[in-house]
Amino acid sequence: MDLEQAMRRAVELSRAVLGTTSPNPPVGAVLLDREGEPVGEGATQPVGGPHAEIVALQQAGVRAYGGTAVVTLEPCRHTGRTGPCTGALVAAGISRVVVACADPTAEAGGGVDVLRAAGLDVETGVLPDEVAAGPLAGWLHAQRTGRPYVTWKYAATLDGRSAAADRTSRWITSEPARADVHRLRGEVDAVVVGIGTVLADDPQLTVRPDPGHQPLRVVLDSDGRTPVGARVRDSAAETLILTAADVPRHDLAAALDVLHRRGVVSILLEGGPVLAAAFVQAGLVDRIVGYVAPALLGAGPAAVGDLGVGTIGGALRFVLEDVQRVGDDIRLTARPEKEGN
Ligand SMILES: NC(=O)c1ccc[n+]([C@@H]2O[C@H](COP(=O)([O-])OP(=O)(O)OC[C@H]3O[C@@H](n4cnc5c(N)ncnc54)[C@H](OP(=O)(O)O)[C@@H]3O)[C@@H](O)[C@H]2O)c1
Repeated sequence: MDLEQAMRRAVELSRAVLGTTSPNPPVGAVLLDREGEPVGEGATQPVGGPHAEIVALQQAGVRAYGGTAVVTLEPCRHTGRTGPCTGALVAAGISRVVVACADPTAEAGGGVDVLRAAGLDVETGVLPDEVAAGPLAGWLHAQRTGRPYVTWKYAATLDGRSAAADRTSRWITSEPARADVHRLRGEVDAVVVGIGTVLADDPQLTVRPDPGHQPLRVVLDSDGRTPVGARVRDSAAETLILTAADVPRHDLAAALDVLHRRGVVSILLEGGPVLAAAFVQAGLVDRIVGYVAPALLGAGPAAVGDLGVGTIGGALRFVLEDVQRVGDDIRLTARPEKEGN
C-alpha cells in the first residue's frame, strides 16, 4: 500500500467516527510494516477512549516495529484524558510518521517536532487539502474560528419552495433523500431549528435508525414556546431550548458560543427559511446541502427568507462542490467563496 492509499484509508476510517469524537478531532490512522503492508488501523474513540494511533498500534502489536504510521492529523504530544500519541509511537518503535494536517491547537500541536527530536522520520503535507476538506473540516474550522462549523440543509422543489402555501412540507423529497439527511445528522454534534419549524412540523430531529449516538437537538426559541409535548422534547436524545433568557434575542453568535462551550464542533441547521436567512446574513453558513425534488408548488415559502438582496448583482454566490442523484432527487453541496460569506 503506498502512502496516498494509506492516507485515503485513514480518511475513510475517520469518516466512520464523525459525530462521535467531539470535542476531540475525528482522526484516522494506518500502520504499515517495513514492507509497506498494512498491519493496523484505527480511528479516534469517544472522549476518554484511545486516539486513532493507539487503536492502530494495539492492533498491529509487534508488527508496528520499524514501520510507518500514516495519520490524518499531527499526533498529539500532550497528556489530556489519555497519554501523548507521540510517546506511544516512539515506544512502539515506529520509524516514520506521515501526517496530512498540522494540529493548530497550542496544547496538542507540535507533535511532529517531538517525533523528529526522538529520531523518527516525519513527512508532513501528504494530501493535506483533501484531508482538510474531509471529516476533519468541522473540527479544524472550530479551532480556527472558535465557533462550530455550520452546514445548512434544506429540501426544496424545483421552484425553490420549502413548504406549500399552507406551510406543510412533508414530504418534499423522496425516502432516500430523507435517509441521507439522517446520515448527515449522524455526522454532527448538534441539529438546530427555529421555533417556527417545531410549531409547524413537530420534528423529532433524531438519527434513525439509531446509530448508538444522537446529536444534541437545539431549538432557538426566544419566548420559550416549544410545546411541552413536542417530539423534540422526548427522551430519544438530549435537547437544548435556547430562549432569550439564555442568549440575547436572535443573537446567533452568542447561541453558537454557548454550543461551542459545550464541546459542539459541527452543526446541521435544519430550518426553516427565517432562521436560514438569519444564519446566511450573519455569515455563519459554512456549507449548504440542498435536496431538490422534481416537483413544483408555485406558491409557498422559499427555502431561504429575505436576504436583503434587491438586485441580481447582489446575489450571494457559492461554489458548487458536488452534485449527486439521491433517489428521485438531486443533492447539491456548495460552500461560500470565502469563509464568512
Ligand atoms: N423544506 C425544508 O427544508 C424545511 C425545513 C424546516 C422548516 N420548513 C418549513 O418552514 C416553515 C417554518 O419556517 P420558519 O422560518 O418559521 O421556521 P424557523 O426558521 O425554524 O423558525 C423561525 C423562528 O426562529 C426564531 N429565531 C431564533 N433566533 C432567530 C434569529 N436569529 N433570527 C430569526 N429567527 C430566530 C424566531 O422565533 P422567536 O422570535 O420566537 O425566537 C423565528 O420566528 C414550516 O412551514 C416548515 O414546514 C421547511
